Order: sequence, then structure tokens, then C-alpha cells
Amino acid sequence: MKDSEVAKSYAGRNVLITGGLGMIGSNIALQLVEFGARVTILDVMAPSYGGNYFNIREIQDKVTINIADIRDRTALSVLLRDKEIVFNLAAQVSHNDSLSDPFLDAEINYLGHLNVLESARLHNPEALIVHAGSRLQYGRIEQTPVREDHPLNPLTPYALNKTSAENMYRFYHRVHGVPSVLFRIANPYGPRSQMRHSKYSIVNWFIRQAMDDQEIEIYGDGRQLRDYIYVDDLARALILGAVTPACVGEVFNVGSGVGTSFKEMVENVVKVVGKGVVKFRDWPEDYINVETGDYISDITKLKSCIDWSADTSLEEGVGKTVEYYTSCRNEYW
Ligand SMILES: NC(=O)c1ccc[n+]([C@@H]2O[C@H](COP(=O)([O-])OP(=O)(O)OC[C@H]3O[C@@H](n4cnc5c(N)ncnc54)[C@H](O)[C@@H]3O)[C@@H](O)[C@H]2O)c1
Repeated sequence: MKDSEVAKSYAGRNVLITGGLGMIGSNIALQLVEFGARVTILDVMAPSYGGNYFNIREIQDKVTINIADIRDRTALSVLLRDKEIVFNLAAQVSHNDSLSDPFLDAEINYLGHLNVLESARLHNPEALIVHAGSRLQYGRIEQTPVREDHPLNPLTPYALNKTSAENMYRFYHRVHGVPSVLFRIANPYGPRSQMRHSKYSIVNWFIRQAMDDQEIEIYGDGRQLRDYIYVDDLARALILGAVTPACVGEVFNVGSGVGTSFKEMVENVVKVVGKGVVKFRDWPEDYINVETGDYISDITKLKSCIDWSADTSLEEGVGKTVEYYTSCRNEYW
């Protein structure tokens, strides 16, 4: 879809982005400001996640920022009232951390999202809400490329809570008429991700290690396939999905639709950065490895609903990401 057509759908509209100071939320905010939307960001700036004021520095005078928690009912009852579209991206994002602190994960990824839905029901039931689910909801992969009707067998509290939340969105749509569009996101990477740990956005972590000319460790043979999606392409899919009537009430995989081995991804990073060394290691005995098997998103359903494709190749996306962090590394390291 042409930018001018997207702008027609967003110009002057009130949009709320929860988790909007993080990677995906800030990239959506940048595109929406360009399309003339009135953007409000809600973010708690929790230290272990990707919230960073620098992410929105180009648009800081054009958006409203509220430092608040999606678990805060009062804040939501105020902030949701006049919004037409809500990108509900706030989350505990690490699936390994959800194993060590399942309560926190349930509080944010399930109860926090329930709070947003309940606030919408009470104060603004017409607001359309976008949910950012995860490919991890599928658990062990039986057949790839993975379609939306693949069984859901979540292996961690993170994936379980994302799945419970997704079901709750369907319930609020069916029973209370609160509209939503549901996504299951593959492996995103790109500018504006946190770069301080490897708990999620693994491509970004390897980019940091290569930029620091470090040894990059791969456990096992690195042959597992993953679907890496550049964050601009991902943001565009969510933006189009939110204003396409045929998407309402539906669930969509969003990824590049391309399978890349872990080894190939890391070698690509080292090649583009021009630094870093890849080392293969056996899996450490105490390592918590929630392996799902090869994963490639089947994006046929999404492409049948929106005029979109994930055009950025891994090489191009890694190149743009390296360029971004080279220009502002102190804000992220
Ligand atoms: N990055 C990934 O690998 C990935 C993959 C699949 C799905 N997702 C989902 O996409 C969404 C966005 O993730 P991201 O990659 O931009 O991560 P991110 O860490 O960059 O952004 C998450 C943001 O949510 C904020 N936040 C956390 N808890 C909050 C709360 N209780 N109230 C308000 N704000 C809160 C954080 O401060 C942060 O700014 C999340 O729902 C995540 O689960 C991410």
C-alpha cells in the first residue's frame, strides 16, 4: 500500500502505543507520526527491557509520553478514553525470565493485558487493540512453514501467558464487542532494540558483540532455522493490520517468511560488521534451552489481508542496524 493511502487512514487519529519507548513501539510511533497520527506513548521504562527515550528523539515534540504501567487501572481509564487504536506492546519480553519469575510474567503479559481490555470495555469499547503475540506460542514445531492453525503448545510461562492473553482478546471481541487484531511475531531485529543482554532480540546482541570485536559463541551446530524480520517491515504490518477491516478478530503470523540458519545469520552479522569471530560450543549442561525446532512463518494469511511484504533482506537489515548503532552506540551500550 502506498504511504499516501496509509496516511489517509491515520491522519488526525488518536493512537495509544503501550511499550512505545521500546523497539517495536518506537518504530511504530516514528511511522505513525509521519502519517499524521496523534500519538500517545505509555511506558513504564522498566530497567530490564528496551524502553529508551533516545528511541523517539526525532519525534519527542510530536508525541505525548506518559510514564505509567499497563497494570495501573486509573492510568488506563484516563489514557484509553479518547483513543481509536491501541498498539498494546508493553510486555515482559524474556521467555527465560518467565521461567524464573512466572508471577511477573503473568502480571504483565496476562493481567496487564486483561486490564487494558477491561478498561476498553468500560471506557471506550470501540477502540481497536493490537496484540503482539509470539511465535513461541506454537511450542515444538510439527511442520514448517507454520500456519496459524498449527497447534499451540506453549513451552514457557511467557508463551502460555501470550496465548492466554490472545484468547482473552478473542473473548472481549466476541462477548463485549471490543475489536482486536492479533499477531504472532517471529524474531524481530533492527534499530532501537536494547543492546545490553541476550535475553531477546538475539540478532541485535550478536551485532553488538561483532561491533565490539568479540568472540560470538554458538551452542550446537547452528543449523536450526529461524525467521528474522526487520523491525520496519514488522511495524508496517502492524500499522496496516490495525486499519484493515478484514483483519479485525483475526490472528496472523508476522515474519519474513524466510528460514535462515542460526549459523548463516551470525556469519552474515560478522561479514556486515567486518569484525567478530564465530566459535561453536557444545550446549552447557545447565543451560535452559527451550528449543522449538525449525521455525518459518507462513505469512500467506497476512498477505491476503494487507498489501504488504517483508522486503528487507537479512543482509540489508543488519547493515541498516549496524549503521544506526554506529551513529549512537553510547545511548544503547
Ligand atoms: N523482541 C522480540 O523478540 C519479540 C518477539 C515476539 C513478540 N514480541 C512482543 O512485542 C512487544 C514489544 O516488544 P519489543 O521487542 O519492542 O521489546 P522492548 O523491550 O523493546 O519494549 C517493551 C517495552 O514495554 C515496556 N513495558 C514493560 N512492562 C511494562 C508495563 N507493565 N507497563 C508499561 N510498559 C511496560 C518496557 O519499558 C519497554 O519499553 C512485546 O509485547 C513482546 O512480547 C517481541
